Amino acid sequence: METNINTLEQQFQDKIDKGQKIEPKDWMPEMYRKQLTRMMSQHAHSEIIGMLPEGNWITRAPNLRRKAILLAKVQDEAGHGLYLYSAAETLGTSREELLNQLHTGKAKYSSIFNYPSLTWADIGAIGWLVDGAAIMNQTMLAKGSYGPYSRAMTRICKEESFHNRQGYEILHTLAHGTNEQKEMAQDALNRWWWPAVMMLGPTEGNSPNTEQTMKWKIKLETNDAIRQRFIDRTVPQADVMGLKIPDDKLVYNETTKHYAYGEPNWNEFYEVIKGNGPCNKKRLDDRNKAHDNGAWVRAAAEAYASKQHIKNKVA
Ligand code: 3HC
Repeated sequence: METNINTLEQQFQDKIDKGQKIEPKDWMPEMYRKQLTRMMSQHAHSEIIGMLPEGNWITRAPNLRRKAILLAKVQDEAGHGLYLYSAAETLGTSREELLNQLHTGKAKYSSIFNYPSLTWADIGAIGWLVDGAAIMNQTMLAKGSYGPYSRAMTRICKEESFHNRQGYEILHTLAHGTNEQKEMAQDALNRWWWPAVMMLGPTEGNSPNTEQTMKWKIKLETNDAIRQRFIDRTVPQADVMGLKIPDDKLVYNETTKHYAYGEPNWNEFYEVIKGNGPCNKKRLDDRNKAHDNGAWVRAAAEAYASKQHIKNKVA
């Protein structure tokens, strides 16, 4: 006797409510699959696009130690993209299709990577602020209901902590250096603060996916809750560095134990995600170029894999 769709949906929701993980072969509502494919692919796209602003500084790092750390971070981001594309593929969309959606401009990636990395201090700001915001969000996602995504997040969060600390250390060093270095650190904070606050997504009421993704425990908290946690954690760190957060409405509320903050420029946010940010075109051009230049590597890896496959079959 065929189980009707309502029963299947109720059984699915019961599993979610009990905190059970959903695995690729489990029955799931089509919209659950769609929401996860959307979020996980955009997350993967963000990881590999995020390599571009930082990769831009590998040859210009101030010394060998900084160059080695930045190389390791950029390689990590490629690995994060790999985990996330692999996890997204378990939902039925191929990596080629996901990448095609990115390369043709159909897919979103994080707004934050459409801003330019103008000075070495930007590399510190990206690690400290962007990876700092990403950690707040990803530690929440690691508790999510879809097995492959939550496991990928657990692994990625460990590496993000290194990314965040190295960024903080770069800015801390500059902020305690010459006046020119301190000004460079403050300038980077001025340019990256608000884009980092907005990267965690629109506020309640303007976040159409939140209700459904929270019902299915894909997201366990709202964008605003994660944003508040990011601000509360980051402002004291700026104080330690003697850097000023560019928000004159920022004030600590002793009652709520949270920082009240000013209104982000949401018009700018929507312009950036529409494709009109400072670097959107350059990011997509560079990404397409990198993909084309890597075609021979993919061909060689596939040729090797199929030869191995034949060898194993014959053996
Ligand atoms: N950049 C681009 N698009 C964004 C965005 C951002 N910062 N924030 C929201 N949006 C889009 C959403 O994708 C959605 O559009 P869609 O329906 O066409 O996909 C629309 O704006 C409405 O937003 P919602 O709040 O309804 O969307 P979500 O519930 O999906 O919340 C999110 C947005 C918090 C970004 C969520 O998608 C999420 O947690 N994604 C996974 C994490 C992720 O992608 N992080 C990106 C940064 S990765 C990174 O920083 C790498 C690190 O190593 C540095």
